[in-house]
Amino acid sequence: MNPVKRRARASAPAKIILFGEHFVVYGRPAILASIDRRVRVSARVRKDDQITIRSNMGFSGSFSTDKLNAVKREKKFRSMLQAVLSAAGDAMKEFKASTGLDLSIRSEFPHSVGLGSSAATAIATIAAVGSLFGKLSRERICDLSLETERIVHSNPSGADSAVCTYGGLMLFTKSEGARPIHTLLEPEFVVVNSGIRRVTGKLVTNVRSLREKDPGLFSGLADMSESLTSQALRAIRDRDYTGLGALMTMNHSVLQGLGVSRRILDRLVQVTLSAGALGAKMTGAGGGGCVIVLVRDDSKKRVLRSVRGYDAFLSKIDRRGVVVEESA
Ligand code: PMV
Repeated sequence: MNPVKRRARASAPAKIILFGEHFVVYGRPAILASIDRRVRVSARVRKDDQITIRSNMGFSGSFSTDKLNAVKREKKFRSMLQAVLSAAGDAMKEFKASTGLDLSIRSEFPHSVGLGSSAATAIATIAAVGSLFGKLSRERICDLSLETERIVHSNPSGADSAVCTYGGLMLFTKSEGARPIHTLLEPEFVVVNSGIRRVTGKLVTNVRSLREKDPGLFSGLADMSESLTSQALRAIRDRDYTGLGALMTMNHSVLQGLGVSRRILDRLVQVTLSAGALGAKMTGAGGGGCVIVLVRDDSKKRVLRSVRGYDAFLSKIDRRGVVVEESA
């Protein structure tokens, strides 16, 4: 199929996990939210068969379209570059198309720190490339991005793909997928980047080993995580910010028990709580990455000051999900 336009742009949001990371891989519930920072992808049709990729995330490259399938299967090459190529290739395959492309990728948030950059990049790439040829439903974009997530993370729960596609605040389980949480709650978070990059797949593997070695400990922690998640749902529905914050901090302790936190993350939690935060926890796979801090209007400046020197930003929930931004 030939493209219906020469240029398209799409974006997808960053995400935070409020409750249930890691346990979600084993069927337990998680609460996630997309936030107001995005990955923006611009796709342009080329006259030749080259796919060029430029990004502000530390990867770039140029490939011929006939290498698309080989690159996707290449086991040694599990990288964001491979993920982007796979996403672009899968989007074109939906329309039985194969053409050269210039892909330009700009992220408004740091990568490899638990904010879902790989899912957002895949989703924005699929949406932008797909819209050069026709229309892809959100469901299809989400499914295709999961393929790409499998390249980067090996055994993803699918939670990141769902929240970056649909946006907003959601409850996610592997068996039932995403369910939006309707609420008037308008939480504000300070996201603090510890500056330590990590690889999600490695942490997921560590947790799998712990689960095999000590199934009793794992299931006890999973039960705690699940109970905190259901209490959090009530707190969200009751707009109980204080209760929600306290539950987040308890969730951090459960993740400490799982062995995925580290001293710097624990310290950031302590420091922000002392500065008046309602609650704080690591988010995502852990081992580094970000801490999310629930703040009130009257404490957010103090919390931001308490983490001076770290890359930290205020964020709100973004309800739009993936957006195809413009066409020409
Ligand atoms: O750190 P992130 O953004 O890659 O999040 C991973 C979340 C996990 O629950 C640890 C894994 C998953 O697939 O849900």
